[in-house]
Amino acid sequence: GPVQAFIAAVPKAELHIHLEGTLEPEMMLELAARNGLPPPYLSAEAARQAYQFKDLQSFLDLYYNGCAVLLTSQDFYDLAWAYFERAASENVKHIELFFDPQTHLERNVPFSTFLPGILDAVTTAKEKLGLNVRLIMCFLRHMSEESAIETLNQAKPFREHLLGVGLDSSEANRPPSLFKRVYGMAKALGLRLVAHAGEEGPAEYVWEAIKDLGVERVDHGIRSLEDTALVTHLEEQRIGITLCPLSNMRLKVFPDEATAARILGKFILETKLLVMLNSDDPAYFGGYLMDNYLFVQRILSLKVEQVARLAKNSFSASFLSDEERQHYH
Ligand code: HPA
Ligand code: ZN
Repeated sequence: GPVQAFIAAVPKAELHIHLEGTLEPEMMLELAARNGLPPPYLSAEAARQAYQFKDLQSFLDLYYNGCAVLLTSQDFYDLAWAYFERAASENVKHIELFFDPQTHLERNVPFSTFLPGILDAVTTAKEKLGLNVRLIMCFLRHMSEESAIETLNQAKPFREHLLGVGLDSSEANRPPSLFKRVYGMAKALGLRLVAHAGEEGPAEYVWEAIKDLGVERVDHGIRSLEDTALVTHLEEQRIGITLCPLSNMRLKVFPDEATAARILGKFILETKLLVMLNSDDPAYFGGYLMDNYLFVQRILSLKVEQVARLAKNSFSASFLSDEERQHYH
């Protein structure tokens, strides 16, 4: 129909997407074979069968396990390039891409291996696809702030290639305030600041991310709705919230479609919040950016103008300059 055609055609930005979450089972098996590692699953189909999650942690366990096949610069190039081609085919024009250095450093894969692979793919995406990609390095919140600081220090030689820092992984009992010092250091380096908050954690964690970490955009932020003063603050300050509908379905943040419709309806239709749609970890959650738009369009019966608003918000909430924004949208 016309709305679906509009979803495909409208220029979009993607602001909440983890590089490691784009590792499709086929590539996982291919890289395992290429690197002489035992295959993590017997087949791509078996991998997809295993991707049934009851919460965030049950996903993270498989997600980090899958990363074991990523060893060489070429592996990271191939991973990033496959995602960029897919994104470009969906008329994504700008990406602020998360990656998780600690997941690789822990396995003795250094910045000097993974970053050049990712950066080569970024350069090729610009040249061949006209796709603009910037990188946001995420700290793993299940690890210590000391480890995050060490990671930031290791990233310093590559400062010019980084847009910002984020915070991801297990949220329960890991309040943002634990990472106050490292966010201060990142800010001093001129890096932009975002964090996952209010996915499984309470609205209080969204406040902490804003007040203690100084984040300029909140990832997920679903539980913000539980605090009306917070909603007002997010609206007034025009703080972007990166919604990830299919992720929330698959990780049971939404127990069912009716709940998804109720909560997403509040964010998208009933408030003035600066929200947009994102795919989070598409290889694990069964859908890329278009699939997320199509899902939300279906459950909320969105009209073209409402889809257009979400797409426009994706650029408004990005870290593009006003001049760049005009070029891409
Ligand atoms: N939440 C927390 N950590 C993550 C996510 C997420 O949605 N995706 C990848 N790492
Ligand atoms: Zn995420």
